[in-house]
Amino acid sequence: MFKDRQSVASLLGATSAQSAIQICGWVRTRRDAKLFSFFEINDGSCLASIQAILDTDGETHIELKAIGTGAAVAVEGDLVESPGKEQKWEIRVTNMLLIGAAPADYPMQKKRHSDEFLRTIAHLRPRTNKFGAMFRIRSRMAFAIHQFFQEREFHYVHTPIITGSDCEGAGEMFRVTTFDLASVPKIDGAIDFGEDFFAKEAHLTVSGQLAVEPYCLALGNVYTFGPTFRSENSNTSRHVSEFWMIEPEIAFADLADDMDLAEEMVRYLIKYLRAHCADDLALFEKFVDKELTARLEQVEKSEFVRLPYTKAIDILRASGVSFEHEPTWGADLQTEHERYLTETHFRRPVFVFDWPKEIKAFYMRENDDGKTVAAMDLLVPHIGELIGGSQREERYDKLHRRIEENSLSHEDYWWYLETRRFGSAPHAGFGLGFERFLMFVTGVTNIRDVIPYPRTPKHLEF
Ligand code: 4AD
Ligand code: MG
Repeated sequence: MFKDRQSVASLLGATSAQSAIQICGWVRTRRDAKLFSFFEINDGSCLASIQAILDTDGETHIELKAIGTGAAVAVEGDLVESPGKEQKWEIRVTNMLLIGAAPADYPMQKKRHSDEFLRTIAHLRPRTNKFGAMFRIRSRMAFAIHQFFQEREFHYVHTPIITGSDCEGAGEMFRVTTFDLASVPKIDGAIDFGEDFFAKEAHLTVSGQLAVEPYCLALGNVYTFGPTFRSENSNTSRHVSEFWMIEPEIAFADLADDMDLAEEMVRYLIKYLRAHCADDLALFEKFVDKELTARLEQVEKSEFVRLPYTKAIDILRASGVSFEHEPTWGADLQTEHERYLTETHFRRPVFVFDWPKEIKAFYMRENDDGKTVAAMDLLVPHIGELIGGSQREERYDKLHRRIEENSLSHEDYWWYLETRRFGSAPHAGFGLGFERFLMFVTGVTNIRDVIPYPRTPKHLEF
């Protein structure tokens, strides 16, 4: 069906006129003049629409009259140089087919709609310029991520989505069960998970890290890139309950190597984006964030700051800024602190490393001071935390102690501990939140607008 059709992107990039071409797409606008009808047709292949001109000679076939904004059409005609200034090529239509009409109640008749409104029609918003651009960028960036790792001989590991362990230990997991919730089996008042599907408690993963580590200690450098889930009840513009994470894990490596890799990757992706998505990116610069190019250029060029957590606290305390939360050693950094460091004080990306062990996950490698762990967060302007990572505790005894200190059950982590008994080696990794990254490189301020169907507390449509 329509196998000979060409993409609008390829036609707009043509070097010469062509006869008898075919395209399929959706009408963005229609304008009727006395002898002609002008259609702007977009097929999703690129930001630009192509103009198709239908010679109606004063008469329009009844079916063609129904072709309005939103309709799906197939167009045959000749690609000719456009006399207009706005485009190089246009199509002189020889045949136009209405594939699917869009009646007058098509909700996107206007040129511009608010992000809030478009969120209520997430099934139609990819047909707007902005969301089309966003989801082409998202696709390209996913490809670039694979290319970055594959070029460096990393292996891609598919870690499971259903899991029996809580990687971050924060208890923010969605339960997976086939129990009839009206009659959950119990023994002495306690739920009998032995009767559940997996005969134990199961959850959606918050991170692929624990499952990818054994592969790092076998295949060397590896990465996983998949959906992760958090039942964290934070309704902010930077949190969603389902998001995608890129998690490399590198063998025979320490925290400095980990930061090197993160920095190289962020820079590579921005370079790739600017080289391959220039048109789509320009839309965000024009309508969303005027500072975008300047920020991306700055990140591409400047070296990232590497700042020990203790120093970060000193800088924040000496800043003279009255933060809502007072910066204190031992407490997590709040978004206001993160943004002060990266946007005001340093004005470039900042790695904060060597964090107090009490506020970090059990698997992070303890430093010699006994108080901190070899963890790092990458803070970037506009976002705050973009990446979280660490060197992993590879010493069996220390890891065993950390598991006990965190009251985790040996039953759930025996396999993880075993990787430290047999051929353990220093290794490190990080997680980059894909949606946060897309916000960072497009200037979009709400995470709900960088993922096709956002899932947030009390919100699960579609
Ligand atoms: O800092 P986090 O929790 O780190 C981990 O999960 C590690 N296991 C990663 C690793 O070392 N392999 O999460 C990593 C990143 C954050 O920096 C943030 O960008 C993103 O994941 N993230 C979220 N993005 C959107 N919505 C949420 N609720 C997020 N929670 C974390
Ligand atoms: Mg984190």
